[in-house]
Amino acid sequence: MSTQEYSVNGSRLSFPAGFVWGAATAAYQIEGGATADGRGPSIWDTFSHTPGKVVGGDTGDVAVDHYRQFRTDIALMAELGLSAYRFSVSWPRIQPGGRGPVNAAGLDYYERLVDELLRHGIMPVLTLYHWDLPQELEDAGGWGERDTAARFAEFASVVGTRLGDRVPLWTTLNEPWCSAFLGYGSGEHAPGHTDPALSLRAAHHLLLAHGLGVAALRSVLPAGAEVSITLNLHAIMPASPSPSAAEAARRLDGVANRIFLDPLLRGGYPFDVVRDTGSLTDWSFVRAGDEAVIGEPIDLLGVNYYAPTLVDLGEPRSGPTAWPGCDDVVFVRQPGPATAMGWTIDARGLRTLLLRLHEDYPGLPLMITENGAAFDDRVQADGAVRDPERIAYLRDHLAVVHESIEAGIDLRGYFVWSLLDNFEWAFGYTKRFGIVHVDYATQRRVLKDSAHWYRAVIRANGIDWA
Ligand code: FCB
Repeated sequence: MSTQEYSVNGSRLSFPAGFVWGAATAAYQIEGGATADGRGPSIWDTFSHTPGKVVGGDTGDVAVDHYRQFRTDIALMAELGLSAYRFSVSWPRIQPGGRGPVNAAGLDYYERLVDELLRHGIMPVLTLYHWDLPQELEDAGGWGERDTAARFAEFASVVGTRLGDRVPLWTTLNEPWCSAFLGYGSGEHAPGHTDPALSLRAAHHLLLAHGLGVAALRSVLPAGAEVSITLNLHAIMPASPSPSAAEAARRLDGVANRIFLDPLLRGGYPFDVVRDTGSLTDWSFVRAGDEAVIGEPIDLLGVNYYAPTLVDLGEPRSGPTAWPGCDDVVFVRQPGPATAMGWTIDARGLRTLLLRLHEDYPGLPLMITENGAAFDDRVQADGAVRDPERIAYLRDHLAVVHESIEAGIDLRGYFVWSLLDNFEWAFGYTKRFGIVHVDYATQRRVLKDSAHWYRAVIRANGIDWA
């Protein structure tokens, strides 16, 4: 399919009334204020301060100073016309040690943030966990430990009790795949463990935390508040029509997608995933009743999509991996353009993914909670930031969103990743995903061309397809 297939004679692709236009961020990536007002350390503070873990030794100590500049940033959101803002709450601001006493100043901060959003008519979409586990919980075993799930439910209930009357959409976890498999498998993310069995345990405890968190939220939120989870689902495609490529795709799909989707939406772990990883773990961390807890109904599924994944079978690799049971699966580089992350630009992956969700897990409303691209943006002499590749990327993906809605998929909104350039985890500040440029030395914000373009899209509630 070429992008031309979306062409409607140069006309406008209009979105349904009430379609949610948002932008997303995460606490550790933007807030800074690492020790402000009683915040405790998280695993990302520890990890980023460990030499060699993050490019350039960058940390989130200051980030883009959003902790102090949130009013300026919300004014920017209002200028763009956003109908919603997806942000995450820093757990160690609320419970510095991850359990027990609540730090009032931390809760007060998020209350001010939410109230400021509401004052501008912007819907707050709150993620409870975007990877910043309180370090004390990691010291006690982190996501490898079952008790961490119970601690998460306690945290969920604290935040839900305080902000439930003002936040209409709640997300338990952002991308548990990354937390489990980059954090405990490949070691590329905090806390940096490289143990495949532990990564599977962590995945289960994250899912359990989600289920317990949903129940905790339901018991404190007012009727009508919605609860969701956000997954980074992989659009996995076999690199060739061969049976071995199909086998690679099945196996990877298991530990990338179905390991989360099936217990969340179908009542239990997929048999083939348990079998494929059977030499690594006996799965005895799954206790009777856990799958029912994980399957607690949700109102909406958040989907983060950036790039497709092309696979085949090849020579088995050894060493740390984010893909347990997939040592002989190889990733094939798709020809064509890529972003500054090296991620292939191909909106067809999003179309495949949405159709698959619609068919295999029907009836669940969806929201694109992250989509975007990093490029090497610079402020030009005339003060503009010209990012035509980002505009093209966003436009192509929004065309797929539009097409999916037309095809009958219940897709309620779209959040650009990200509002601001920010701390891109192990890449530090070297990758710019924002539609707003940030000069890290001065904290000056400049709308990139893509921000101006997005504002026009929001205003028109549609994209013009020339
Ligand atoms: C996602 C993360 C988000 C950001 C983007 C680029 O995996 O949820 O924080 O890093 O990727």
